[in-house]
Amino acid sequence: MDRVRAWLPLEGTDPVMGPLIGALLLLAVVVLRAALRRTRVERRLDSPLTLIVIGLVLGEIAALNPDRTGLFLWAQAGFVAAISIGIVRALLILFIQFHLRARQGAGVSAIVRDVGSVVVYFIIILLVLRFILDINLASLVATSAVLTAIVGLALQDTLGSVISGLVLELEDPFSPDDWIRVGNYEGQVVETGWRTTRIRTRVNELVTLPNTYLAREPVVNYSRPDPRYGDTLRFHAAYEAPPHAVKEIVTAVFAADPAVLRIPEIEVRSTAYGESAMEYAIRYWIDDFKELERIRDRLMTNVWYGLRRADIRIPYPARDVFVRTEIPEPKLARGGDAVATLGRVPLFASLPPDALQRLAASAQRLIFARGETVVREGDPGSSFYVIERGRVRVLLDEGNGHRGRLVAELGARDFFGEMSLLAGEPRSATVMADEDTVVVEVEHHAFKEIVAATPAVLEPISEVAAHRLAEQQALRRSESLAGERSPSAHTMLQRFREFFRL
Ligand code: CMP
Repeated sequence: MDRVRAWLPLEGTDPVMGPLIGALLLLAVVVLRAALRRTRVERRLDSPLTLIVIGLVLGEIAALNPDRTGLFLWAQAGFVAAISIGIVRALLILFIQFHLRARQGAGVSAIVRDVGSVVVYFIIILLVLRFILDINLASLVATSAVLTAIVGLALQDTLGSVISGLVLELEDPFSPDDWIRVGNYEGQVVETGWRTTRIRTRVNELVTLPNTYLAREPVVNYSRPDPRYGDTLRFHAAYEAPPHAVKEIVTAVFAADPAVLRIPEIEVRSTAYGESAMEYAIRYWIDDFKELERIRDRLMTNVWYGLRRADIRIPYPARDVFVRTEIPEPKLARGGDAVATLGRVPLFASLPPDALQRLAASAQRLIFARGETVVREGDPGSSFYVIERGRVRVLLDEGNGHRGRLVAELGARDFFGEMSLLAGEPRSATVMADEDTVVVEVEHHAFKEIVAATPAVLEPISEVAAHRLAEQQALRRSESLAGERSPSAHTMLQRFREFFRL
């Protein structure tokens, strides 16, 4: 045992074996680092291995100066401190990073890791000072009031942050990846350290908040324990629009959005009789807080289209005085002429002008936003649409409520909705606006008049309808409807005639 002690640069070092063993150890660590080069372990163990190398170099200096002079003592102290801290650090890293994470899938929080290691290093330094250099720092600090005051003042803020960090760790008001708001800052928690906590905002700012700030300010956690968030949007609608109608339209717009939860229910409340409009607030729930701004944008946009379709104005403030009497129209809705739109459809080319006029008089022009559904597969339907501007996609349900298979894309002058209108059957497909789209909607009774006066109009429509049905069935053939034959144009015509009792 004594021989082994003599090999180390401790008390009486062996003048030959001491430096030799030190050099061999140094070589071993350098070889180990080279072997681990560019591996995950090496990156993590970089700092402890550097400390151990420094320790071994100091050990060599001590071993080569065994005369126990000042240099020997300091080199010896450096040797013991650097080697001990390096080994403790390496063990901690290996244990926490690899053993705990790999075995239990759980890590140790940064603050416990950091505070724990700082305490251990501090104890090692105290012991080295005490037993090797014979400096008793603890009693020095305890007996020297001035030193205590200096150390105390210097560490005041840091200690406050560390203690706040530990309190946060115990209270656990948030964990990494949670969305939180503290004071004016809102973002996703990246990491809680021993002095600070970092959050990343929506615009990718990395905000470093001192733990003392987090301990002082109220912390709002959007992710835990319940990830659902009840957001409120406000909007205005014209006084002449009955509040129940407004509420129904807006609720339908919100319910159609995939990000809005069904439970808790959507609530629309009229909140005030404003200067120029009735004010409403709508409370809806989502569970994806990070998407909040995009969801709000989509909903506010679709509310505009929904109110527009129902002919409900969103009034300008009363102080904007419009001299003209008509209501200012948005560009998309302006200028359309239903007669011209219907007249451009080859289907109606044979209609006499007065019939076209009558059809247009009872038709409505509607605007749909990109992504909005115009008709939904399976819904009852009794109207027919001609596209004035924009594009739509015709999609088939893929079963279990997923709509997805694209059957066709239609643009200006095309029409859709003829199948339900003419056969009284539910909608055979979903039609969704692919960009902002204006359609002219013709109702069943108006069409019936035209068919009664000009039955020939049914023929070209039956051909188109038969062709479309055949396309749908070709797509569905791989599924349950395999083998079913599509009706011919003639059969379709018969069906339409029966429905119109011709
Ligand atoms: P309808 O069944 O009333 O509602 C959905 C509409 O999608 C349908 O009428 C047609 O107008 C349209 N549609 C269905 N299949 C096709 C297709 N293959 N090509 C173009 N449009 C179609």
